[in-house]
Amino acid sequence: MKALVMDSFGGPEKLHWAEVPTPVPAANEVLVQIAYAGLNPVDWKIADGHLQKMLPHHFPLILGWDAAGTITQVGKDVKTWKAGDKVFAYCRKPAVQWGTYAEYITLEAGNVAKAPSNLTFAQAAGVPLVALTAWQALHEVALLKPGENILVHAGAGGVGGYAVQFAKNQGAKVFSTAGTKNQGFLKELGVDYPIDYTTKPFPQSVREVTKDGMDVVFDCVGGETLTQSYGLVKRGGRLVSIVDTPDKNLCEKLGIYGVFHFVRPDGAELTQISQALENEKVKALPVDERKLADAAEAHRESRKRHLRGKIVFKI
Ligand SMILES: NC(=O)c1ccc[n+]([C@@H]2O[C@H](COP(=O)([O-])OP(=O)(O)OC[C@H]3O[C@@H](n4cnc5c(N)ncnc54)[C@H](OP(=O)(O)O)[C@@H]3O)[C@@H](O)[C@H]2O)c1
Repeated sequence: MKALVMDSFGGPEKLHWAEVPTPVPAANEVLVQIAYAGLNPVDWKIADGHLQKMLPHHFPLILGWDAAGTITQVGKDVKTWKAGDKVFAYCRKPAVQWGTYAEYITLEAGNVAKAPSNLTFAQAAGVPLVALTAWQALHEVALLKPGENILVHAGAGGVGGYAVQFAKNQGAKVFSTAGTKNQGFLKELGVDYPIDYTTKPFPQSVREVTKDGMDVVFDCVGGETLTQSYGLVKRGGRLVSIVDTPDKNLCEKLGIYGVFHFVRPDGAELTQISQALENEKVKALPVDERKLADAAEAHRESRKRHLRGKIVFKI
């Protein structure tokens, strides 16, 4: 099959086409013909070598952890899927080597979910990684409850765009940060209190609305944004970051629960997300369709950290 590969760590210029063997599904796996692959910041973080301590990497390496497409073959023990099923998946594997910037990928049957019938493959490819991250952060880690206050950083991005919608569905009061041009987009997503972090320090904007602070802060930015968020969390509240690990000592001192979360593949949860999209309880984020041949340029744009919604690649 044809794939976009890297032979060593480095920038977007390292991506090049190669002919590689089409993978063969193991007994518990399915083979998916990829229609669209989703771009995530983790793709260029892997390219830079940032995940070397977390996971083994093998070259030539195919980037890409999101896909939507059609099952073409199933392993001998797979009873839940058949050839022809339209699916989407968060495609992280135990080692980084076989990604979705390629024509085919093998996936554990339990990590795949039926693609939402009301979405195109292009729209569906932008969902799994970011929506699962938001789902797990809010429902499993922060245990967000109805009536609570939550501040979601980067609500116009991939993870934040789903997080604010899941939080609204949970009955929370939702605050979210974005730049000036994305304030209207935050409102469209259902954010109660859009906050422009570029015109005023965001802690000040939050305090102008509520002196109590937040039950939950979900940090999708890290760095200085995380640093400035500690003081906004109520005693007994939760601070979940998907970028940096919260300072344990500071959290203890403030009486808050602070944790880093790394998203895991989960077909059952992705099925619930698929159903929420089909029932229109959640809107798919806008996708910007590109050719896979233009992946290097898309990586350069993603690195600037100001995309709205998702970039997806037609395979
Ligand atoms: N740990 C995990 O499992 C996990 C999973 C998924 C993602 N992540 C990480 O989480 C981060 C977000 O991922 P993503 O896919 O959502 O990224 P993304 O879609 O590329 O995020 C872009 C968004 O970030 C916003 N933004 C940039 N700087 C900001 C700031 N200082 N304050 C508020 N918003 C800001 C931008 O809004 P404006 O243009 O309006 O500024 C833009 O809409 C990445 O670092 C990614 O690697 C981690």
